Amino acid sequence: MDDLVTITYKGKSYQLPVIIGTENERAVDILRLRNETGFITYDPGFANTGACKSSITYMDGEKGILRYRGIPVEELAEKSSFKETAYLLINGQLPTETELRKFSIMLNDNSLVHEDMKTFFQNFPRASHPMGILSAMVNALRSFYPELQTSEEEINLTVTRLLAKVRTMAAMSYKISRGHTVVYPRPDLAYCENFLNMMFNTPVTPYVLVKEVVRALEVFWILHADHEQNCSTTAVRVVGSGRVNLYAAISAGISALWGPLHGGANQAVIEMLNEIYRGGGDYRKAVTRAKDKNDPFRLMGFGHRVYKTYDPRAKIMKRMCDNLLKTLNLKDPLLDIAKELEEVALKDAYFIDHNLYPNVDFYSGIVLRAIGIPTNMFTVMFAIGRLPGWIAQWKESMDDPAWRISRPRQIYTGPTETHYVPMSERQTA
Ligand code: ACO
Repeated sequence: MDDLVTITYKGKSYQLPVIIGTENERAVDILRLRNETGFITYDPGFANTGACKSSITYMDGEKGILRYRGIPVEELAEKSSFKETAYLLINGQLPTETELRKFSIMLNDNSLVHEDMKTFFQNFPRASHPMGILSAMVNALRSFYPELQTSEEEINLTVTRLLAKVRTMAAMSYKISRGHTVVYPRPDLAYCENFLNMMFNTPVTPYVLVKEVVRALEVFWILHADHEQNCSTTAVRVVGSGRVNLYAAISAGISALWGPLHGGANQAVIEMLNEIYRGGGDYRKAVTRAKDKNDPFRLMGFGHRVYKTYDPRAKIMKRMCDNLLKTLNLKDPLLDIAKELEEVALKDAYFIDHNLYPNVDFYSGIVLRAIGIPTNMFTVMFAIGRLPGWIAQWKESMDDPAWRISRPRQIYTGPTETHYVPMSERQTA
């Protein structure tokens, strides 16, 4: 039969059902595997494991496709706003005019942060990384807003509160880290404009909003809004599966995103490009080092677990990067190095054989630099963008009839049963 997979072991056969997704992705349903065969599966990094069914984001790593709720990310980057994309991901469809207006009002009404939270910010050591601060602050929101999150109305309020306050908290942490006066959100400004104003306005120099900069930020956040079951989203789902509150699950996602192999790559790319620049601009050395198996160095911003072709987000980001620098009349030597590096890597046999192409982080740092975002805030920018995706995935997992607490198995490789040895009888090395 077409919809069954047969596995045979030592002459005995077992049949397992096949699940087919709307884009014809196929999975073997192994729910009964252990009970019927005694086997578990072994899949480090979950590279071949479908941990859930999801109707939020579709990606095809071979063809370079990324769609949110069926809509290609290219179309959203061209026509949508981040707020509208967030609504789409969380609610499953594009909003009507009335729904979008209501969503905007709710975001505005919830954008202030409890004044007591400012004391929290002020007491973090100056050298703290903004991702550590953001993760702690999001978790702390639960203490300030302890309402239940069970009815649809309560969940909607918590979701909107998070979207609104994370943006305010991110800007606030930046201002406090610089010893500047905190700028409050303004109800007359849209989501992205408000963030830029909170980041860059000062009592002496009012921040002037530039249309192209606002649009660049919208697109940056749209491109980061969801990416199906990546490391941080999996963290949100796994932590959420224990039925913790939304704030705790998102805080876990922020911590997971921090790593340089994941969201922290945008900061790592700029640091790498800076190092090449300071070392005289020899980008070929970086390519040689990345190929050397005895050197732990990797070309940051290259490679992806799923994309085996050019990341579609990287294409948009590269174009936007060029346009933004041109519009602002900026010259960034790191962009020149990035382009040369990309050109050399894309022609190199190692990178071709390993299907290593630029990912979204390769050019995003240069866009953020052009906007004026400091390097240590780059991953925070990613986190704000990814928030709607995390929320949508958390909501979906809460409503999933197949939900179970995440609890993988393992292949034990430690000692078999052994016995306690009293200290006096232990051998000294
Ligand atoms: N530079 C050089 N070699 C690389 C790179 C790289 N950036 N990425 C992968 N490889 C090589 C590995 O050395 C390995 O080679 P081998 O098979 O000869 O031993 C092979 O490609 C496969 O690499 P894995 O680490 O097994 O691939 P995985 O799917 O586990 O990792 C990851 C994907 C983490 C993104 C990896 O490509 C990487 O470290 N890239 C650099 C960091 C980065 O840009 N991260 C951002 C990812 S996108 C995002 O999270 C937003």
